[in-house]
Amino acid sequence: MSNVLIVYGSTTGNTEWVAGQLESQIKAAGHSVSKAKAGDVSADGLCAGKDLVLFGCSTWGEDEIELQEDFIPLFDSFDKIQASGVKTAVFGCGDEDYKFFCGAVDAITDKLASLGSQVVGGKLKINGDPDGATDAIKTWGAAVIGAL
Ligand SMILES: Cc1cc2nc3c(=O)[nH]c(=O)nc-3n(C[C@H](O)[C@H](O)[C@H](O)COP(=O)(O)O)c2cc1C
Repeated sequence: MSNVLIVYGSTTGNTEWVAGQLESQIKAAGHSVSKAKAGDVSADGLCAGKDLVLFGCSTWGEDEIELQEDFIPLFDSFDKIQASGVKTAVFGCGDEDYKFFCGAVDAITDKLASLGSQVVGGKLKINGDPDGATDAIKTWGAAVIGAL
């Protein structure tokens, strides 16, 4: 049994819903999962002792990438999360009509890689209502579980 953490930032509830789907799926695979809002966690040692940390974040802004507001202070302290050598995975909701579709997922992935984390599963970017993306979420969740 692996020790998994899901941390997410979500304004209208879309990324939060995806986080809940992933929590259920990973628990059903027999792992221990905890889930927290980005605004409720401290960056200090966030990834220490975890087998896998999933980060979920929606994207805001117009002509530049803006992370979901609760995620910004955490992201600004990412150097403290102790991601080196820890597996991570990144997902988020967005809208393809924007210039930077799910740009937050790209920014978080790049930062984790620069911190020495092994980012697994590829990026899960969901366009529009995540209700319509249950198959993609399940497929991605399975890939992430498979990397444990
Ligand atoms: C003002 C505004 C700016 C947005 N900017 C982006 C963007 O740059 N890229 C993107 O992919 N989606 C963008 N979106 C879409 C949101 O990310 C999308 O609605 C998402 O599902 C919200 O997820 P959440 O409920 O988890 O916060 C924007 C939405 C609004 C209202």
